[in-house]
Amino acid sequence: MHYPDIATLNTRYGARGRIAFRASEKGLPIAALAGVTGSCEVSLYGGHVLSYRPAGHLPVLFMSKSSRFEPGKPIRGGIPVCWPWFGPHPVDPSLPAHGFARIVPWRLAATEYTSRSAEIRLALDDTDQTRVWWPHRFSLTLRVALENALKVELTTRNNDTHPFTVSEALHSYFGVRQIMDVTVRGLEGAAFTDAVTGTAGCPQETPLVIRQEVDRVYTDTEAECVIDDAGLERQIVVTKRGSRTTVVWNPWIDKAKRMPDFGDDEYTRMICVETANARGNALSLEPGESHTLVTTISADAKAE
Ligand code: BG6
Repeated sequence: MHYPDIATLNTRYGARGRIAFRASEKGLPIAALAGVTGSCEVSLYGGHVLSYRPAGHLPVLFMSKSSRFEPGKPIRGGIPVCWPWFGPHPVDPSLPAHGFARIVPWRLAATEYTSRSAEIRLALDDTDQTRVWWPHRFSLTLRVALENALKVELTTRNNDTHPFTVSEALHSYFGVRQIMDVTVRGLEGAAFTDAVTGTAGCPQETPLVIRQEVDRVYTDTEAECVIDDAGLERQIVVTKRGSRTTVVWNPWIDKAKRMPDFGDDEYTRMICVETANARGNALSLEPGESHTLVTTISADAKAE
């Protein structure tokens, strides 16, 4: 996709004090949104929220210092969109992990603002290339809104003549001061599949602490999660709608070392709590049917 130049984007879609566009180092357009309650940045490439900062507080999302920001590569941090499959492709491991939405350019559909808030809407439609990866006609929209909190909505519409199945995640990376001081509450009672041990159906009995690699898919849960970061004296609250799955991931020491786009020590400063529909909660959409996945992120924190 060929994007208009930054000056044109600013003329057509910018709004003084609320919405401004800039180019990344690789020349990819990034929208900076500012509302009364905070600010965020969104990359048109990948339909990717890069950062979120509530007014007067520290940034909430983690971004790896080693992330590549290159066409064709995923961005390591922020909120990647995993779609239309979550994790490795179910039958063809040569296809992109977590689907293709995070490694293609999205179209800028609209921006809106008020005296308090700002939002951007991006869109992705099937193309010859996406139909090679996934043989279905669809439209996908991403709405990122700075309201009282950061709200991200991903809407899938089936434009085809047959049903299709989608698994998906708003793969949110949260920044923490020190992972050893973090507790995730809200998943107690939910059952999870553990990709590290290869076990399924384990119940989460207590609030979750991270002391080793964690890669868990919790299904049949619509619960709000709270990331309690004692180091920063901050609680990040993740609420969701249209989501029956929550994924929790921290690569820990060995996997961090194997990841080329992630610093060896960065596992101490992040945790992913992902708003998803995956595994048994994958969506089946009839022709003409739509579904919206929503995550809302707020932080109750000491001022900076
Ligand atoms: C998590 C998965 O959601 O994403 C992990 O559960 C995976 O298994 C992680 O390692 C990161 O994936 P990727 O493709 O961005 O390296």
